[in-house]
Amino acid sequence: MKTSWTLKKYYFIICILLILQHVYSNKIINGLEEEVKKSEFPNGFLFGTSTSAYQVEGAYIEDGRSLSNWDTYCHINGVIPNGGSGDIADDHYHRYLEDIDLMASLGVNAYRFSISWSRILPRGKLGHVNPAGIKFYNNIIDSLLLKGIIPFVTIHHYDYPQEFEDRFQAWLSPLMQEEFVHFAEICFKSFGNRVKYWATLNEPNLYMEMAYLKGVFPPSHCSPPFGKCSYGNSDIEPLLVVHNSILAHAKAVKIYRDQFQEKQGGTIGMVASAYMYKPMTDNEADNKATNRALAFRVAWLLDPLVYGDYPIEMRHYLGTKLPIFNGEEKILIKNSTDFIGLNHYTTYFAKDCLNSNCTCMESDVLCTHGENRAIRGYVLITGQKDGAYIGDQMGMPGLYVVPQGMEDIVDYVNKRYNNLPIFVTENGYASNENQEGYDMDQDRKRIKYHKAYLASLARSIRNGADVRGYFVWSLMDNFEWRFGYTVKFGLYHVDPFSLNRSPKLSAHWFRDFLTNTTLNNIQAKSTI
Ligand SMILES: *[C@@H]1O[C@H](CO)[C@@H](O)[C@H](O)[C@H]1NC(C)=O
Ligand SMILES: *[C@@H]1O[C@H](CO)[C@@H](O)[C@H](O)[C@H]1NC(C)=O
Ligand SMILES: *[C@@H]1O[C@H](CO)[C@@H](O)[C@H](O)[C@H]1NC(C)=O
Repeated sequence: MKTSWTLKKYYFIICILLILQHVYSNKIINGLEEEVKKSEFPNGFLFGTSTSAYQVEGAYIEDGRSLSNWDTYCHINGVIPNGGSGDIADDHYHRYLEDIDLMASLGVNAYRFSISWSRILPRGKLGHVNPAGIKFYNNIIDSLLLKGIIPFVTIHHYDYPQEFEDRFQAWLSPLMQEEFVHFAEICFKSFGNRVKYWATLNEPNLYMEMAYLKGVFPPSHCSPPFGKCSYGNSDIEPLLVVHNSILAHAKAVKIYRDQFQEKQGGTIGMVASAYMYKPMTDNEADNKATNRALAFRVAWLLDPLVYGDYPIEMRHYLGTKLPIFNGEEKILIKNSTDFIGLNHYTTYFAKDCLNSNCTCMESDVLCTHGENRAIRGYVLITGQKDGAYIGDQMGMPGLYVVPQGMEDIVDYVNKRYNNLPIFVTENGYASNENQEGYDMDQDRKRIKYHKAYLASLARSIRNGADVRGYFVWSLMDNFEWRFGYTVKFGLYHVDPFSLNRSPKLSAHWFRDFLTNTTLNNIQAKSTI
């Protein structure tokens, strides 16, 4: 009896030690900054920076480019803070060589960028291919390769010729599928001999929300209770937009696989917006609500691409509102992605609205007033619980620092999609500064954010996820959609008048992380 009691005490002490060791090894003790090493990532891992065409290029009416949906939208007075637009943006169109030099100096081995549809096909299928557009992206690709930087190309990232909107309502129409396939095919033909990583579409599962549910991106469609727009139906249109996006993706992938993949030797996938969710309480209803949140946001897009149909939860709650893939389409979309691209920034609480009253707080930026509707999965999503935030607030309303979310979302995607290769195509820290500003304290938080999220990503890799790349959003401060130039994600500061780029502390940190040099006094290195 006595020995067994001693044994129990012994086991008890071992347990405590193991827990402590776990806590320390995960560095989840308050105040202890997470450290992460490049060597924790596999060989050949892509480390890069990310941008998109409309956010950085400028030159909006040069060399045959037609007006895009975003040009039209930004030129409507008052929609973007301080009258902001992508007319000039970072003038990357003229400064791409300098920008590629910046990337080379960071030591990245990859760059994710997107192609301006209206530069390549000013009138879509109705018009010609614009040689100046092809030349511009040829120059970028060739210059990257010269510096040993791998191009990772998003074909479509939010911007398309305005004409599509005027003629057939763009993503609301199946005609957009054919337009996209045409565009993608021209990209494969023109650039595929050098581009080995293709992402078809960027975040249709976020675009639908901004553009067709809340109406805060072009074409500003929405309906009550989600918002007051002159046109739209928030309960239906987001479903059609994602449906057309999935079919457009799958048709482009089929062409790539049938006609290009073998000789060009590349890989093709889709990029999803992928927030993580935690149950508001540990009751069963909130746990189920968390699963619904993931199904209605992430699996909505990814289940069709892997399994050939929408998640059953969506069919259950949306019924006939959710479009149907016919037999042929199911075959087309199933297994239509070589990899999964995840844009991950933050984590939210999920609260059940099936069994409880979900009136959200007016002051909560995430509140849509339609929490208790099928399109939202009967889930309230918020960053607050009992007056406290889920993590430190970033400079963009509704973003919080929750590093553990990275491991959790990658684990979720890894398990649900049988270990498909994953690229983290965006991850970044938003600071809120005036246009000229550089706030070093916020940038220090950016460094801390990237370290902690990378450490979390490294854990998911140790858990067995096949993660192959990580792209910082963004290379430089740029046009942040409806926030204009008031929210900044860049590793480089861009002066709004001279457009000169200068490295922030976070750029030095990333370079040191990538080039494996020892940091002695990072503070001393600021050049701003
Ligand atoms: C740096 O390189 C050395 C030797 O190549 C390696 O042992 C170490 O783990 C690396 N450190 C980081 C931070 O990657
Ligand atoms: C999915 O498609 C790829 C490319 O066509 C093929 O190599 C792979 O075997 C397919 N996987 C499954 C599970 O069908
Ligand atoms: C839900 O809460 C709102 C505001 O507190 C209240 O007006 C409404 O009657 C409640 N509904 C139910 C079903 O309890």
